[in-house]
Amino acid sequence: MLTESHQLSVDRCQDLSVEARLSGSIPPAPFFLTTDLDERHRLYGELSRSGPVHRVVLPHGEWAWLVVRYEQARAALTDPRLAKTGPPFAAELDPALRCAINSNMLNVDLPEHGRLRRLVAAAFTRRRVERLAPRIQQLTDELLDPLVARAADSSFDLVAEFAYPLPVAVICELLGVPESGREKFREWSFADVNASVIGVEAYAEAATAFVEYLRDLIARKRREPADDLTSALVGARDGSDSLTEDELTSMIYLLLVAGHETTVNLIANGVYMLLRRPGAWAVLGAEPERVPSAVEELLRIDGPVQTSTLRIAVETFEFAGVTIKEGDTVLVGLLAANRDTTTRPDAEELDLTRSPNQHVAFGHGIHLCLGAPLARLEAQAAFTGLLARFPGLRTAVSPHEIVAEPGLLMNALRALPVTTRPA
Ligand code: HEM
Repeated sequence: MLTESHQLSVDRCQDLSVEARLSGSIPPAPFFLTTDLDERHRLYGELSRSGPVHRVVLPHGEWAWLVVRYEQARAALTDPRLAKTGPPFAAELDPALRCAINSNMLNVDLPEHGRLRRLVAAAFTRRRVERLAPRIQQLTDELLDPLVARAADSSFDLVAEFAYPLPVAVICELLGVPESGREKFREWSFADVNASVIGVEAYAEAATAFVEYLRDLIARKRREPADDLTSALVGARDGSDSLTEDELTSMIYLLLVAGHETTVNLIANGVYMLLRRPGAWAVLGAEPERVPSAVEELLRIDGPVQTSTLRIAVETFEFAGVTIKEGDTVLVGLLAANRDTTTRPDAEELDLTRSPNQHVAFGHGIHLCLGAPLARLEAQAAFTGLLARFPGLRTAVSPHEIVAEPGLLMNALRALPVTTRPA
C-alpha cells in the first residue's frame, strides 16, 4: 500500500505552488527512493492498476506526469506534442558545459534528431557491432574463469566483478578509450545517471571532469586516428555535414554512459531474477539456446531503465484522461509499462519462452535505443557464460540484504553477492 505521505507525493502535488513543488516539502515518489527492487515493482504495479497517468514528485523535487501503462507509454514516446528537454538541472549548468554534454540525439527532436542519428549511424554500424562478438566472448571468459574457484570457496559480488567490468570494457574498446582512463567512469557516469538524486553541484563537477577527459580523447583521435568508433565519429560525414565539436563530445559522453550503465543492470537484475524463481537458473542452464528469448524477458520484467528521459509538453492537450498543460514535464515509466497487467494479465510473471515479447525497455519511436543490438550481444554472452560455469549459482545473502540504488532513471542493484558453495 502507498502510505499517506507517498500518496501525497504521487497525487496531490497538482495543488502546489511552483515554490512548494521545488522546495522539497513533498517527498519524492517512493518507487524512486526505495532500496528494495520488489517494493519498487509493487508500488509501480499499484499505480498502474489505478490509472494510466499520474503526477509524481521526482527525487530532485520537481513534479512530472508519469505514464505507467503500456499502450499509453508507446503513445507518449511517439507523441510530437512531447518534446525533449535536457536532463534534470540542464538549465542550471554553465552554457558551455551544457552544450558539451547535451548536444546529442537523445536530447533533441526532429528534424535535428534525424540529422544526428544519421551521422552517428554512419559510424556505429551493424558491422562494427558484429565484429565485436569474438572480443565480447573473450572478455566474458577472462572475467568469469577466475571467479569459478572463488564462488565455490566463498562468494563474489556479481556486479563489481562481472556485470560492471564487462560492459565497461566493451564500450571502452569500441570507442578506443585507453585502460588508464576507465576507473574514473564509475564516478562520472554514476553522477550523470543519478543527477536527480545527488544534486546539481556534484553533477556539474563530475560532468566537467568527464568533458575535459573527452576533449582530450577526441584531440588524440584527431591526431592519431585508430580503428575505433571515436575516430569514426570524428570522420563521420553525411554529404557535407559532420558533427560539431560539442556534438562529438556529447555523443561520446552519451555512448559511454548509456553504453554501460544499462547493460550492467540487465546482467545483474537478470541474474537476480533467475536465481529467485525456483528452477529458472537450472532450466535455462539445461537449454542455453533459450538465452536470447530469456534476455528479452529479463529486459521486460526487470529492465535496466526505470523511466524515459524527460519530455516537455509543447502545447496543452488531453492525454489518457488527464489535461497535460503546455510546459508540463512528462516521463514514461518503462518499468511500470512493461509489467502493466491491465494490458497483459500475466505481465508480472517470468516466462522465459514468451513470444512475441513486446516491451519498451529500449524505449520506442525515434529515440529507440541505438545500442540495443550491442546490449543484446553482451547480455547473451554474459548469461551463456554464467550458466555454463556456475550451474549451482545462488545468492550468498538473504533478500533483504540486496540493495537497489534509489534513483529516477536507472533500475540498478548496488551489489549482488553470489556463491556456488552448498548452503
Ligand atoms: C540493456 C541495455 C540498454 C537499455 C535498456 C537501453 C535503454 C535505452 C532507452 C530506454 C533509450 C531511450 C530513452 C528515451 O527515449 O528517453 C535509449 C536510447 C539510447 N541508447 Fe540505450 N540502452 C541500453 C544499452 C545501450 C548501449 C549499449 C548503447 C551504446 C553503445 C546505448 C546507446 C543509446 C543511445 C545513443 C540512445 C539515444 C537514441 C536516440 O535518441 O535516438 N544504449 N536506450
